[in-house]
Amino acid sequence: MERIIINGGRRLRGEVRISGAKNAALPILTSSILTEGWNTFSNVPNLRDIHTIKTLLLDLGAEIEDGKDLRINASGLNNHEALYALVKTMRASVLVLGPLLAKLGKARVSLPGGCAIGARPINLHLSGLAALGANIELRNGYVEAKARHLKGAPVFFDVPTVTGTENLMMAASLAEGITTLNNAAREPEVVELANVLKKMGANIKGEGTEIITIEGTKVLKPIIHSIMPDRIETGTFMVAAGITAGDIRVRNCNLNHLDSVISKLRETGLKITEESDGLRVVGNKLIRTVDIKTMPYPGFPTDMQAQMMALMAVASGTSVILETVFENRFMHVSEIRRMGADIRIDGRSAIVKGVRKLSGAPVMATDLRASASLILAGLAAKGRTEISRVYHIDRGYDGIVEKLSNLGADIQRVND
Ligand code: EPU
Repeated sequence: MERIIINGGRRLRGEVRISGAKNAALPILTSSILTEGWNTFSNVPNLRDIHTIKTLLLDLGAEIEDGKDLRINASGLNNHEALYALVKTMRASVLVLGPLLAKLGKARVSLPGGCAIGARPINLHLSGLAALGANIELRNGYVEAKARHLKGAPVFFDVPTVTGTENLMMAASLAEGITTLNNAAREPEVVELANVLKKMGANIKGEGTEIITIEGTKVLKPIIHSIMPDRIETGTFMVAAGITAGDIRVRNCNLNHLDSVISKLRETGLKITEESDGLRVVGNKLIRTVDIKTMPYPGFPTDMQAQMMALMAVASGTSVILETVFENRFMHVSEIRRMGADIRIDGRSAIVKGVRKLSGAPVMATDLRASASLILAGLAAKGRTEISRVYHIDRGYDGIVEKLSNLGADIQRVND
């Protein structure tokens, strides 16, 4: 079994290059289903979730050439089924639903189950596709969707859903007529997908706002595209500078996507300055407390909540972290507590009383961002931290052990 071992207490210094964004790459790769011919994608991160989506695309009949760039040709698609075996390992597999339906007129996709951070239903994806004229049935654990011709229509999301908005944008791009997505997600990854679809020839307006309008077109063409940098990986390395009182230059990142995170981190006392190709983050021994409330974009991202909690665990006072996006995203709390953190859960809030020092301990990763918070806590802790179930981290952080090691952390991956 693989584990990550950290001997904490080192100040991190140096430069780190951020990889392509997982949550932008996943829908972009599935959008290739909509096109005829070879798409070429660069800056694709090397992650377990990306391998899963490639396996799924291959299974659907797409051709893939994997080199420095990733090339995908979905002209020969001959299967419309996303099997349980794949979907259960990655919920984002549901991102093939919209494109398959638009391209082949049918899709059979396993219903994702609950997951470590919440129930995460896909009812809004389904009601949106039904509004476009799809006939949807749930049978034997699968969504079976059929539509001879999707027709543009108004869609209203009860809550803004990132992958739901993406699925609908992809389906509507090949539908007949105009679709409006109301209360749409405004995340940068949604905007990036809209830009990709526009490059392919789609007519989309309003991405990045609550109302996205899509006028369907008959054919989309393949493109060459470089995936944008990962804002959550960027934020995670910023916290790494903060929690180790380090000095890190973060390269290949987009500061415009990180306003809420940068503003909170500055309040904690971090010095963050913009540089030509990124930013410099200088930490301070004294970490001030901030309260956090996670929200859809442009609010504070739920995907940075666990990392901020690690920082607040060693801050000078008490902070309150309110999780409003997912109902069960505090699985990391009991693990960080094992390292000496003083955290109490009260409903959707975590009350974090900063302690002077965390102490290294054996801990278990429970989901992707929880693993990142345990690594951060381990970097700050006195002594040795051993993190098991590291496959969670491989889903979303490309080469995190090597990157932290290059910054001077005493961190290694061992395989018993
Ligand atoms: N929701 C519904 N019904 C739906 C869809 C969503 O009730 O049909 C609810 C969810 O239960 C949740 C809220 O709406 O309470 C928002 O969920 P959303 O659909 O936006 O989440 P997602 O699309 O499944 C994406 C990211 C997540 C990230 C969330 C929130 C991808 C592949 N995943 O998930 O990323 O946390 O948006 O920003 O884009 C991660 O990278 O670690 C991760 C979990």
